[in-house]
Amino acid sequence: MQKKWWMESVGYQIYPKSFYDSNQDGVGDLNGIYEKLEYLKDLGINLVWICPFYDSPMDDNGYDVRDFYKVSKLFGSLEDFRKLVDKAHELGIKIVMDFVLNHTSDEHQWFIESKSAVDNPYRDYYIWHEGKIVDGKKIEPTNWGSFFGGSCWNYDETTDSYYMKIFSNKMPDLNWNNPMVQEEMVQVGKWWLDFGVDGFRIDAVSHLDRDEFIDIKDSTDKYPLDWKKFSNLPKVHDYLKKMNYELFKPYDALTIGEVGGQATIEEAKRYAGFDSNELSMVFNFDHNWCNNLFEITNPKKLKTNVLDLKKTFNKWQTAFENDGWVPLNWLNHDQPRLMSQYGDFKYPLESGKMLATALHMKRGTPFIYQGEEIGMTNYPFDDVNEFNDISSKATYTYELEKTPDDPVRALKVASLRSRDNARTAMQWSKDLYGGFSEVKPLLPVNRNYRKINVEDQIIDKNSLWHHYKKLIELRRFSAYRDVITYGTYEQIDLDHDQIYIYKRKLNDQTLLIINSFSKKDIKYDLSSYGILSVLLSNYKNQKIKQSHITLRPFESIVFEIKEKS
Ligand code: NOJ
Repeated sequence: MQKKWWMESVGYQIYPKSFYDSNQDGVGDLNGIYEKLEYLKDLGINLVWICPFYDSPMDDNGYDVRDFYKVSKLFGSLEDFRKLVDKAHELGIKIVMDFVLNHTSDEHQWFIESKSAVDNPYRDYYIWHEGKIVDGKKIEPTNWGSFFGGSCWNYDETTDSYYMKIFSNKMPDLNWNNPMVQEEMVQVGKWWLDFGVDGFRIDAVSHLDRDEFIDIKDSTDKYPLDWKKFSNLPKVHDYLKKMNYELFKPYDALTIGEVGGQATIEEAKRYAGFDSNELSMVFNFDHNWCNNLFEITNPKKLKTNVLDLKKTFNKWQTAFENDGWVPLNWLNHDQPRLMSQYGDFKYPLESGKMLATALHMKRGTPFIYQGEEIGMTNYPFDDVNEFNDISSKATYTYELEKTPDDPVRALKVASLRSRDNARTAMQWSKDLYGGFSEVKPLLPVNRNYRKINVEDQIIDKNSLWHHYKKLIELRRFSAYRDVITYGTYEQIDLDHDQIYIYKRKLNDQTLLIINSFSKKDIKYDLSSYGILSVLLSNYKNQKIKQSHITLRPFESIVFEIKEKS
């Protein structure tokens, strides 16, 4: 197997709006990231993925790009980014940008041209279609729904036609069938790689092709959402092979595709198998919702489906064991916070550390989402006006339509799943606004910043932050570096519904990683292993008697072992 720098990296994801505000306007910025690079270095990471900071009207916080060659004034300037990349490189940190291929903003010059006339040279940069006449009325070409609610078509009166947009009305989808679009995007990518970035996280990459425009049958929804209509279709691979050949490969760029579109293992391997010649790896979301979140309104009723989670982990780890690589992440800027999703508020420190260990000792490249290293939590929304995210607002409207007399229920449901939970201001200290800014931040600050913040956790050697740092040290700098990075992965006791256990093995080193997801004590038989040492744990000591360990609530241990023959 070819070894790559990104296999030996630990990544950190930054949502620029809420990371650190250096110029006191309430919005995080590039200089803010620059000022915190030493912090990231100290934590031990050597790879940063920054969410979009291109010029944008911010309908979807930057994923709606107005100009791929400009930095949004909200975040600073190109010179700021120059400084950031240079300093990051000096510190040994690689920088990965978000690359948005599926759509642009409706304020992008291409779209302004495209919508102006049917014979405009940019017309075919986007997906246009005539409306359908039903009962004498003009309606959308198909009944397909979009991710942010409503139809995936939007009407434009200039040419009396509809354009496709699988996200918001302000995010028209690009027509990848058009070679000019492919060429433009190769040029955009080259420009940033020449600038000095080390690679891309590629947004919504599985959606670059569309199925035939035929209505979805048998649905009671006016605009049913069927991912298959625009996910993982064959031509996506042709486009990516071309991008790889002309752009990624010549620059040896790291590429991490977002293939949320319910990609199967086979599809994921087509994107990111070692010999696929498409992407370096792909983020999947199978492990993001292994609980009953979609069935409850009260967060206290949340229950992790440990078996489901374990099955998912096993599936992805084993599928890529010989011929591919995976990113390891719990959640990102599109999901609720890890602690509020899988953690336990009675045991925040124990469960937080256990979740970190469970993920970081697997095979792949770990990515920490900003604030995860201190256990930041969901935001207690009590008014719909507190939502900033377009899709959270859409969920609220959709839920309210279901129960118009119960806005409280609609708010609870939307809050539980809201992407805004992950986008609250980073909690740096006990200072006003969590030390994120001196003025009121645009995105809210969680009220618990006096209890949960970076400053305190750096001082407290037993904190979650120090646990993350130790995990990174183990992976990057210890004598176990190779086994953690390149060792085999073998999950054991697959049917245990409370403990997640796996082995990592390379040459003469074997690690056994045990993670309890239970609040109760659990006995576990260790008699088949000779314990050599404990590399890391979230308890001070272990309760082992006659080869049986009693695991306390959320106990997690990394053992070095020798297997008894
Ligand atoms: C996935 C991104 O992670 C999300 O934040 C965004 O809304 C959509 N793609 C559309 O770009």
